Amino acid sequence: MLNTYEIATIDGDGIGPEVCQAAIRILREACGAKLLNFTGYEGGAGLYQRTGEVLPAATFEACKAAHAMLHGAAGLPGVTYPDGTEAGNDLHLQLRFKLDLFANVRPIRLYRGVKSVLADWQPGQIDYVIIRENTEGLYASRGAGVNLRGELVTDTLVMTRKGVERVAKFAFDLARQRKGAPRDGKHRVTVCDKANILKTYAYFRAVCDDVAKDYADVEIDYAYVDAITVHMLKKPDFYDVIVAENMFGDIISDLGAGTVGGLGMAPSGELGLDHALFQGSHGSAPDIAGQDVASPMATVLSGAMMLRWLGDRHSDTRLSDAALRVESAVEQVLAAGRIVPRDQGGTARCSEVTDEICRHLK
Ligand code: IPM
Ligand code: MG
Repeated sequence: MLNTYEIATIDGDGIGPEVCQAAIRILREACGAKLLNFTGYEGGAGLYQRTGEVLPAATFEACKAAHAMLHGAAGLPGVTYPDGTEAGNDLHLQLRFKLDLFANVRPIRLYRGVKSVLADWQPGQIDYVIIRENTEGLYASRGAGVNLRGELVTDTLVMTRKGVERVAKFAFDLARQRKGAPRDGKHRVTVCDKANILKTYAYFRAVCDDVAKDYADVEIDYAYVDAITVHMLKKPDFYDVIVAENMFGDIISDLGAGTVGGLGMAPSGELGLDHALFQGSHGSAPDIAGQDVASPMATVLSGAMMLRWLGDRHSDTRLSDAALRVESAVEQVLAAGRIVPRDQGGTARCSEVTDEICRHLK
């Protein structure tokens, strides 16, 4: 338990500054002025345009030294590296790879007051977590790959026993702690892969099977990535924890978010053994930047995930209690339906949603 926790923040690009600062305001309201010390650092596509650096050494060192990181969003269309990939996204990828943030935790939960595009599914019936392996898979090629004379280009899908084993263990441990799938209360890990076609995914599944042997109390389930996109729409209540390779996890987590109100309702925690980055799963939405119309919900809920992670890590109930109060305030604001974010069909401004959550915290 510490007197003060150092939080490195990176506002980033587009709506990033608005949603990150909104989350900081709410976390300060929940924890008091002293418990969390927020220090902002530069990073992202705008910085790259100005300086040629997406993640300056000063920012990286501060992130590495901090107790946790909170981020708004990064990336601007058209700001790319010579190979065509987006420069802004390199902020996340450098942090993930250099700090070994191997488990990207993406809760998919339908809140009261939020309308699902899936007809007839009610809050409480969609409540699962996607665990995306975050440091290898198809992303291992990022910045590498092959480009021969502009005629032949390849990226490689990489799986390691260590990488798969640790993310699978994370998923099974989480399933053990949760209350089970809404449909039947079963503690379940669904392995999402394409084991029928590629040996890499067959390897992913085989390592998950090895890990499952130590979790007799957790049911293992399998779904090919194409099939799971249908199941996530037709039987979302069946899922408790889904574990997937990096690229598949990236894709299905957006699909999952789409079933619970969109990316504006999609928090994430990117966890390593010693470092953690918390951010909404959405992008920088440059088209609505600077207009105070973005929803801060995903970043605020990511902030609550940060408090819970810090509270567990430092056995500090002040933080885990604050996490509960932030989540409860978000639930109350959404359920009341008085201040409704625009991505949920309302007219509320980012600042108005922030004020309302703070009001509930008071
Ligand atoms: C995500 C995003 C990132 C990814 C981009 C911004 C690097 O899509 O976090 O889901 O591809 O992982
Ligand atoms: Mg994504």
